[in-house]
Amino acid sequence: MTPIDYEYLRKLLKDRSGLDLSADKQYLIESRLLPLSRKSSLAGISELVQKMKGGSAAIIDQVVEAMTTNETFFFRDKVPFDHFRESIMPEILRARAGRKSIRIWCAAGSTGQEPYSLAMCLKEMSAALAGWRVEIIATDLSQEVLEKSRAGIYSQFEVQRGLPIQMLVKYFKQVGEFWQINAEIRAMVQHRQLNLLNDFSGLGAFDVIFCRNVLIYFDQDTKINIFNRLAKTTEQDGFLVLGAAETVVGLTDAFKPFPERRGLYRHNGARAVSSRTPPAGAAAPKVAAMAGL
Ligand SMILES: C[S@@+](CC[C@H](N)C(=O)[O-])C[C@H]1O[C@@H](n2cnc3c(N)ncnc32)[C@H](O)[C@@H]1O
Repeated sequence: MTPIDYEYLRKLLKDRSGLDLSADKQYLIESRLLPLSRKSSLAGISELVQKMKGGSAAIIDQVVEAMTTNETFFFRDKVPFDHFRESIMPEILRARAGRKSIRIWCAAGSTGQEPYSLAMCLKEMSAALAGWRVEIIATDLSQEVLEKSRAGIYSQFEVQRGLPIQMLVKYFKQVGEFWQINAEIRAMVQHRQLNLLNDFSGLGAFDVIFCRNVLIYFDQDTKINIFNRLAKTTEQDGFLVLGAAETVVGLTDAFKPFPERRGLYRHNGARAVSSRTPPAGAAAPKVAAMAGL
């Protein structure tokens, strides 16, 4: 790969996915793109770049996908799910007792372990949520991870990472060497492809947004821009959950840290504008009615 190829790829990835590569990440490009160039019967990365410059949209999409990091696992980091059960949900149950509905967005849901972990938490609270409309939307830039998430099929290794054995027994069925999460939990999660760099106001307003371990790859201006747009799509008393290495502090005051809950933020209602209902024409939400679940 020539320095010109590297600069071309750096710029393209920044523009297409937000990925902010420093000047010394050639090894990362090579480890992710050499397999792709081999698969496409190309001699190497320079040839791959030539093909991209020739305007092949399919190859550009494949390059962007290959450069995303999709690492995830069930109940990743544990603490955010404690926040969800112990701080977020008690508050939502109180604040939304009148309208009995909750909207949750996993903004970089990858292969589904995060949205399904939330769905299982909610299922465990079925008694308190009887009669509630529950909506979980999982989005990601990558079509490939969304397909896996929709199928809800995981290897033995994947279900051994973070998933309590009781939940495996209760919510999964064995399919050959794999495990598939049951249809009821799958039906609680709606999937859509979405690039966080693009406008997402059409999704409407959420009570809770999990946006974990994705902004870490973006530069500061991109993070600020996304935080401010996330604030507009969060209810004024809503919550934002970030990854362990991410924070809003020093970047925006649209969210404020929740006292003594690392990674949990509250909408700073006083200053932000929130559209409370999905705009006209937005796709009708697929909701799971918790009654009788
Ligand atoms: C490391 S995974 C995080 C998964 C999950 N949130 C977690 O914390 O376990 C990051 C995900 O962000 C997605 N991603 C990367 N850039 C994105 C973008 N611009 N818009 C939406 N998703 C993006 C990747 O495809 C990947 O699935």
